[in-house]
Amino acid sequence: MYRPYRVSLKVVRPRRLLTLIAALLVTMLSACASAPAGTSIPSALDPRGFAARNIANIWWVQFALGTLVLIVVTALVVYVLFIRRQGDTELPDDLSQIDDSKNHRWIWYGGIIIPSVILAVVMVLTLSSMDALARPPQEPEVVIEVIGHRWWWEVRYQNEEFATANEIHVPVGQPVRLLLTSADVIHSFWVPQIHGKMDLNPGDINTIWIDVDEPGVYRGLCAEFCGLQHAKMQLLLIAQEPEEFAAWVEQQRQPAPEPDDEQIRYGQQIFLGSSCVYCHTVRGTNANANIGPDLTHLASRQTLAAGILDNTRGNLAGWIIDPQHIKPGNLMPPTNLSGNEVQALLDYLDTLE
Ligand code: CUA
Repeated sequence: MYRPYRVSLKVVRPRRLLTLIAALLVTMLSACASAPAGTSIPSALDPRGFAARNIANIWWVQFALGTLVLIVVTALVVYVLFIRRQGDTELPDDLSQIDDSKNHRWIWYGGIIIPSVILAVVMVLTLSSMDALARPPQEPEVVIEVIGHRWWWEVRYQNEEFATANEIHVPVGQPVRLLLTSADVIHSFWVPQIHGKMDLNPGDINTIWIDVDEPGVYRGLCAEFCGLQHAKMQLLLIAQEPEEFAAWVEQQRQPAPEPDDEQIRYGQQIFLGSSCVYCHTVRGTNANANIGPDLTHLASRQTLAAGILDNTRGNLAGWIIDPQHIKPGNLMPPTNLSGNEVQALLDYLDTLE
């Protein structure tokens, strides 16, 4: 006599399972809540740009189809395990008598035809999206080179004399071209609310275009493991109304102002007389190295050290004196200065707006 197999539900204790799921959700959601003030949570499911919206739409279609398949398969498993086999019939002695032509339909429909239709739908959506993302509707006026470094982002505006770091300003409502490359290892540029990931490869340029819907500060990050401080390689994409963007460009074009008092002049002397000048540029002075970020408008930036510190006087002092403590392995050496010298240097850097 054939005995149907019965699953005992006593093995899983529902209350314990619910507690576990709740604890997991709380942990995950609390991570989302820690976005810095003024910036949005960088979720690919909260798209604010043309490309990200396309990608999110495909994600939702795949999620819906996957959920549907899961529900159907689970229902069939439950049906076979708990319902159909209760009081099951006996198997005949001669198994060749069983007519299983009906069962072949399950393989044809469930195993071949339905999966093919689902995969074809996903493929068509993906291809049409890739096509839409390949070319902007009009030639972008703003072209920006983004160069990955361990572990910060160099940002150069084509046809402009200036460069900045870790903050990319763009105008909203128009396509902007990004030329992505790397100065050392492979990085990956990812601003989830604006576009999918794109690698930055040394010796090669990958091109994407973005079109941001509304003004805002969007967080981005490096999405390819690139060494010790990969997790601390963040950036801000600052989308502005076209007039505001134009004003920002105008301000960035200006060289650093000449010191107009004794203390600031002293700070500038310290800057130009210390190891700072071997790596950094401040336009309008003799400092014109480009190993580290351009500091001409350092004080106008929101963050320091690739998005990991707010740009405050205290954080800047800590960064200058002992950058290896904050980001071990980065290329900036500690600076050996007296208290007075540090204060004067900070006073000078504060004028670089
Ligand atoms: Cu750069 Cu990870």
